Amino acid sequence: MLRNQRSRFTLPSQGTYLNCAYMSPILKSVEKAGILGIHRKRNPLAIKPLDFFAETETLRSLFADLISCREANRVVVIPSVSYGMANVVANVSLRRGDRVVVATEQFPSNIYPWQRLCLDQGGTLVAVAPPDGAEQRGRRWNERLLEAIGQRTKVVALGHVHWADGTRFDLKAIRQRTREVGALLIIDGTQSVGAMPFSWQEIQPDALVCAGYKWLMGPYSFGLACYGSFFDQGKPIEENWINRKYSEDFTGLVNYQRDYQPGALRYEVGEHSNFVLMPMMVAALQQVVNWQPNRVQDFCEQISARAIKRLREHGFWIEEQERGHHLFGVRLPAHLTLQSVREKLTKKNIHVSFRGDCIRVAPHVYNTASELNTFASVLIES
Ligand SMILES: Cc1ncc(COP(=O)(O)O)c(C=O)c1O
Repeated sequence: MLRNQRSRFTLPSQGTYLNCAYMSPILKSVEKAGILGIHRKRNPLAIKPLDFFAETETLRSLFADLISCREANRVVVIPSVSYGMANVVANVSLRRGDRVVVATEQFPSNIYPWQRLCLDQGGTLVAVAPPDGAEQRGRRWNERLLEAIGQRTKVVALGHVHWADGTRFDLKAIRQRTREVGALLIIDGTQSVGAMPFSWQEIQPDALVCAGYKWLMGPYSFGLACYGSFFDQGKPIEENWINRKYSEDFTGLVNYQRDYQPGALRYEVGEHSNFVLMPMMVAALQQVVNWQPNRVQDFCEQISARAIKRLREHGFWIEEQERGHHLFGVRLPAHLTLQSVREKLTKKNIHVSFRGDCIRVAPHVYNTASELNTFASVLIES
């Protein structure tokens, strides 16, 4: 069992931060790596051509390890989820009437690209809604998703958990269904990878795209994606020199190459060897790999169990089965409004997010059971 990790962060002593789904606080080790990165550019002579590649390889291995992917070369650096998804969408074509299946109210970076593709190519975007009512909501939402995947489905694009209320999607069953109909499975792992176990080997999606600044504990503007073999011969959205064959040879760069670096490496963002953000991301992933996502889940489960039990006893709704322990939505009993609860939480300096009709609670290893209980008490006494 993980012990509380707050000492690894520089969180202010006042206030309760239950909002890693918004943005993680920075680890001391990550801050240090960033400062060293800045210092490094004091002297460009010390930055050798090899340095443009070496740390990225370390990062690939760390991320591949985290997601149980045997081929680290499938992992690339991206600046944002929208960028990673743009590379996916640029390599998918639809015929009139083909369908792209998503969940309702997904984060826009995994909606807008599909909207655009459907608009341009005559496809239909099908957003599968949860059932009305709270009973078995997560299980029934998963069933609905499976039912929505049919012969005309070309793509299913989802998170592992819903970003707003934490509902966990059964990616194993969904992958099986997509195989039956020959559809791609594209996952936005931003709100789960790092804090919840994910196995590339087990799910075998066609792409996994993650922002780095939440559960991967990294800096902003730096994320990771993993592309499966479907994309190996595809066309990237930008034509940058470093993704072409032999780019390691700086003297020969104008011997222009037709070929890309093999497979997924063509999708890596230009200037991926960012000398400040890259070492930060490496330090962040070293810590995340060391914590282990299953231990983060256990920790979050333990610190939130009592608060959740109390909230349920007082008429608040929280998904029972189909959710992770690091991110959950709280829906209010009828006599309360989000606005009034929000004011009370703000007064107590408790930080959560309000997404749709939910209070989104996102604890991590720097939080305590006592903080979650205080949060629960504010809601119960509202
Ligand atoms: C599920 C999900 N995906 C992606 C993002 C960020 O997207 P982008 O990197 O395109 O800004 C967020 C941010 O909150 C998110 O919650």
